[in-house]
Amino acid sequence: MKNTVAFILFFMMGFASIAQTQKNKTSQLIEFSTQDISMFASVTEDSTLLFHYFGKKIQDASPFLDKRYYRRQDYGTDNMMYPTAGGKNFREPALRVTHADGDLNTELVFLGYAKRKIDENRTETTVHLKDRKLPLYVDLIVKAFYKENVFSQYVVITNEEKSAVRLHNFYSFFLPIKSTAYYLNSFTGDWAMEMGLSETLLTRGIKSIETKKGVRVTRNESPSFLVALDAPLNENFGEVIGGSLAWSGNYKLNFELDEFDVLNITTGINPYASDYLLAKKKSFKTPEIIYTFSNQGAGGISRNLHDWARNYGVYDAKTIRPTLLNSWEGAYFDFNENSLKTMIDDAADLGLEMFVLDDGWFGNTYPRNNPRAGLGDWQVNHTKLPKGIDDIATYAVSKGLQFGIWIEPEMVNPESELAKSKPDWTVKSKSRAVPTIRNQWLLDLTNPAVQDFVFSVFDNTIQLSKNISYIKWDANRHVESVGSSYLSKDLQSHFWIDYVQGLYNVYERIREKHPNIIVQACGSGGGRVDYGALKYQQEVWTSDNTDALSRVFIQYGTNYIFPALVTGSHVSSSPNHQTNNQTPLKFRFDLAMSGRLGMELQPKAMSDAEKEFAKTAISNYKAIRDIVMFGDLYRISSPYDKQAYYSLMYVDKKKEKAVVYAYSIKYQGTGFTPKLRLHGLDPNKQYRIKELNVNKSSFWGDGKVFSGEYLINDGINPPLRKIYDSAVFSIEEI
Ligand code: DGJ
Repeated sequence: MKNTVAFILFFMMGFASIAQTQKNKTSQLIEFSTQDISMFASVTEDSTLLFHYFGKKIQDASPFLDKRYYRRQDYGTDNMMYPTAGGKNFREPALRVTHADGDLNTELVFLGYAKRKIDENRTETTVHLKDRKLPLYVDLIVKAFYKENVFSQYVVITNEEKSAVRLHNFYSFFLPIKSTAYYLNSFTGDWAMEMGLSETLLTRGIKSIETKKGVRVTRNESPSFLVALDAPLNENFGEVIGGSLAWSGNYKLNFELDEFDVLNITTGINPYASDYLLAKKKSFKTPEIIYTFSNQGAGGISRNLHDWARNYGVYDAKTIRPTLLNSWEGAYFDFNENSLKTMIDDAADLGLEMFVLDDGWFGNTYPRNNPRAGLGDWQVNHTKLPKGIDDIATYAVSKGLQFGIWIEPEMVNPESELAKSKPDWTVKSKSRAVPTIRNQWLLDLTNPAVQDFVFSVFDNTIQLSKNISYIKWDANRHVESVGSSYLSKDLQSHFWIDYVQGLYNVYERIREKHPNIIVQACGSGGGRVDYGALKYQQEVWTSDNTDALSRVFIQYGTNYIFPALVTGSHVSSSPNHQTNNQTPLKFRFDLAMSGRLGMELQPKAMSDAEKEFAKTAISNYKAIRDIVMFGDLYRISSPYDKQAYYSLMYVDKKKEKAVVYAYSIKYQGTGFTPKLRLHGLDPNKQYRIKELNVNKSSFWGDGKVFSGEYLINDGINPPLRKIYDSAVFSIEEI
């Protein structure tokens, strides 16, 4: 049966690939390539799929057919493209299966491969593998994105055995790399301090990055990585591999340095407690991993990933995102019709383009006046908003603003009508206590009835007014005491995967019905920052921490992997609930303007002078935001460096316009100025520099014309010395 399918597939894909498959059955090379990167695998005489190379483009790869590794052939030492448990493999297996007959071994043999040109830029290669003895089939699907120099990979496992097989490990990809040293750069933190970057020199053994929390999975760690080869990570130089798993549930990334000093990278769904019973005739599809290589340091990796994200990875990535005022930090749960309308007036006056009503607008029997009640009861609260949401939304539109609203549809407070009427809908383990986090429980999205409900929360909320154009989708807890009343007792371990697939089903339905709504993936801030969610959503709430100094580090880390277009970045009041420091409004704006700018404070509390500054900064941002959202990112200096400057620039694709940001985050001494080299410019062009967000610039070069060559090599040295000194420059070719 499977062979017939494979044959038909080959037939449909053209005779060229059949011929290639048949002619070179035992010694063929399989090439995967983009404009500047190559990846090669080959097939041995006993039909094993070996992996040879991932890196800078090699035109003539024929030596790989003869290459010898001088290892003992009787001892399972080869670099495989998708190694399994059993047979000869001794590394962490990408695939581990208990077969229908109890056999623990899997040995994949090569059946053939097919290439398909999706369009001018994308090629998809499907490599067909099968267990040597049993009818278990594995397809590796690799997409090459030519211009972006990015690959993606996922795996489809199909069971044609006589009954169900049990999948233990089923990673999306395996990459064996040979270099002299490997520096792993990964992103860790906590709530309100997400995406902290740290570097580790890998030594023999396995370093793993994983989450077992199920939901809101990117708060403490991230399924994204960079591995610098030979030397520590440098922004502009050196060979680096980078990747990110597109999955909003449990993940695991293993970096295993083996006895030959080969680094074996596996990434995918976390095998932890996730055994998956794959029924006869069924297939299992893993999430996609996105990965790339650059010989221009970390900067090259970020630019490749950002290009891929804007062209393929992020929902609706070609449109300019509106600036907005979000009600949360300015009002929390305490608002009514009049106070919201005053905020809307102020937002319009400041020149913002959208007003977002955050938490607190719903629940009547259990009103949502604090985080302890109301989640699950998505009816407008009559006391706070007697005229409903439409009244507020229409008012916003009458003031020239768009309107957005907050929901948290996967969650329920015990104090709610929903929790009391649908006790089986919550995630819990039968007789055990059901723990709350932030006073709430999680709804069981493995259950199709719950999926319908979550869809209806979104859908019904949109129906509250034709003037709603934005939804902030929050999720403020993770999984504890796992258990599903919907899944049978044998399939409880499917929970972790089925939850995410249930969520994606809902996202699919939402996008089919509401293609134009802007959706922000929130997850307590920083909890759903992954390319799985961004396939359906335009942006993320980068962090609940809006303190600008903290945000320097959070945004620095996040923008390694995710483009500025998707990172919501708001100016809040100072001090606020995250900081005792008094941060100048200019520093707060200068920083927020390097992402998708918004505000999140009570404008009534601002002085006239502050409002005037805000108006100018918002208007300046509108003039440069196309460069921020669609341009190339060049990091100029790292906040982690001894000098403690954070500086970055965005450059448009033609290198005609750029915007440069610089922030001093500690006292630097009286005579010290930074040297900011503007690597993103064209050395052969002439540029004029203009400082923004100031009445009078203190930089000697303001308004002057410089060659790109000068700006790249000697750079600019604005006098930023004190903590919170900051500057934004607009640069234009003349
Ligand atoms: C957590 C989010 O990250 C905040 O921005 C806000 O929406 C609150 N939840 C509301 O409860």
